[in-house]
Amino acid sequence: MTIFRTARQSLTATLAGWMLLFSGQIFASPGEVSNVHVVPAPLLLEYGSGRFGVEQGLNIFVKDKSGPAFTAAELLREKIATSTGLDVEIKHSIPSKAIPNSIQLLATDTDDSLGDEGYTINVTSRGIIARAPKAAGLLYAAETIRQLFPAELESKAQVPGLKLSIPALTIIDKPRFKWRGCMLDCSRHFMEKEFIFHYLQVLAYYKINVFHWHLTDDQGWRLEIRKYPRLTEFGAWRKGENGAPFEDGKTYGGFYTQEDVRDVIAFARKLNIRVIPEIEMPGHSSAAIASYPYLSCNEDMTEVRTEWGIEKTILCAGKESVFEFEENVLAEVAELFPDEYVHIGGDEALKDKWKQCPRCQARIKEEGLKDEQELQSYFVKRIEKILNKHGKKMIGWDEIYQGGLSSTAVVQYWNHDDYFRGAIANGNHVVTSPTKFAYFDYPESENTDKPKWMRVTPLSKVYSFDPIIEGVEPWQEHLVLGGEAPLWTEHAPQERVEFQILPRLAAFSEVLWSRRGPKDYEDFLNRLDANYLRLDVMGIKYNPFEKENRGKPETAVTPAP
Ligand code: ACM
Ligand code: ZN
Repeated sequence: MTIFRTARQSLTATLAGWMLLFSGQIFASPGEVSNVHVVPAPLLLEYGSGRFGVEQGLNIFVKDKSGPAFTAAELLREKIATSTGLDVEIKHSIPSKAIPNSIQLLATDTDDSLGDEGYTINVTSRGIIARAPKAAGLLYAAETIRQLFPAELESKAQVPGLKLSIPALTIIDKPRFKWRGCMLDCSRHFMEKEFIFHYLQVLAYYKINVFHWHLTDDQGWRLEIRKYPRLTEFGAWRKGENGAPFEDGKTYGGFYTQEDVRDVIAFARKLNIRVIPEIEMPGHSSAAIASYPYLSCNEDMTEVRTEWGIEKTILCAGKESVFEFEENVLAEVAELFPDEYVHIGGDEALKDKWKQCPRCQARIKEEGLKDEQELQSYFVKRIEKILNKHGKKMIGWDEIYQGGLSSTAVVQYWNHDDYFRGAIANGNHVVTSPTKFAYFDYPESENTDKPKWMRVTPLSKVYSFDPIIEGVEPWQEHLVLGGEAPLWTEHAPQERVEFQILPRLAAFSEVLWSRRGPKDYEDFLNRLDANYLRLDVMGIKYNPFEKENRGKPETAVTPAP
């Protein structure tokens, strides 16, 4: 574990106070240093002397009886009790002093310098004390404590003879970015609700706090909308897989009821994860159009699409009935999802149909628009007004900048440098997800089953990413909210999701969480080795390419998993 001394300079006075307090116990021998491997790397870690060992009758103190701080206590209780077989109890009283054989999770509203998600951990031979101004910080303290213990902590059954201990140390930690996201496409492949719970736990383990949930696309509409039942009765099911023959009348698909969505949001909230729904428009909408053909220009789509690739059928921008539909859908979405943002897609909207549609052309004339790009801008701006009316902010892929955009929308940069630069110059907030660093649907190594057009995104490439992309001027940096790693799932059904995102998510989390500045890839790999062991014990099926080919060219061709 690298000790990040340079980080001190950027810390505030309160944090500096901490530093002074612990400056007597800084230095660790290399042997001790190798004991602890945390990903993402904390801001500051200093070793003390001695160790804390868990004994029978461990008490975990936490005030909260729900929310992320309680999740933190419950997580540690469950893991320690299961792996060791010891009795571990959660207590909701707050002791006034250090208690032997205890973990204390303490809310301290006094230390602003740690922000909404920062925390400190102090391990001595008597026990562990974590402090944080907000409950989220205590959850992240617990996620870190989890990684301080040996990998066997993650065992789902008792490990005979397991003794859990941690070297004495102090950690001070807080994230670099407030938007640390992962996008999961549940349209191309439907993912079970139970799987989403598991996926969210993996995100929380890496301190990811935004779940961008891609719920609608050409190949399936996955969200129950009460006013439009055909969206899920019909639009959630497709005949055959990716053009494969439609056999035995069996359709492929599934959807989330509004009750399911509420369960996912509640589960995510306990893990300090915001859930941002994506309802795609005006392109990538053919599942909606197949359900309600009047939404398109010429009602030419009556089946949910079974092939991948970009579809030309698009929502008609000339019909008022389309805006009425979106108004009603977004009203339900806004009521269901508590987050301040709704993602409206906006990417890859081919304009062929708009060029031929008399209604779309009439709209261009009436509104004095220059062309179909400005028609897209007209569409997007109307949608933003609908969302604003419901108290929501709009986010969309970088094409929402096409033809002009209000400065209040958030732009998710994925592919178009000019839109990204335009958005930044326009004062829009941005989330960065450039394909060549952040797309986890791209394979981690050259392998035999990837589509030819896909680039390879090795682990080292992900690790080299900085959300403050080259060319962003220092005075524009505040506009970059953070980054997001999308997983499009045309080639990644549920059982392949872990393989696609790991271990790259470990690198991505460090990019988003850990301090700015030159990163040490070798040090990361060293910590990743310990992480692999943990994932093994958890039974998570990560991509073993990097582990098995360390030091070899990352372009080696590997067989498909
Ligand atoms: C995208 O990858 N089409 C945003
Ligand atoms: Zn039209």
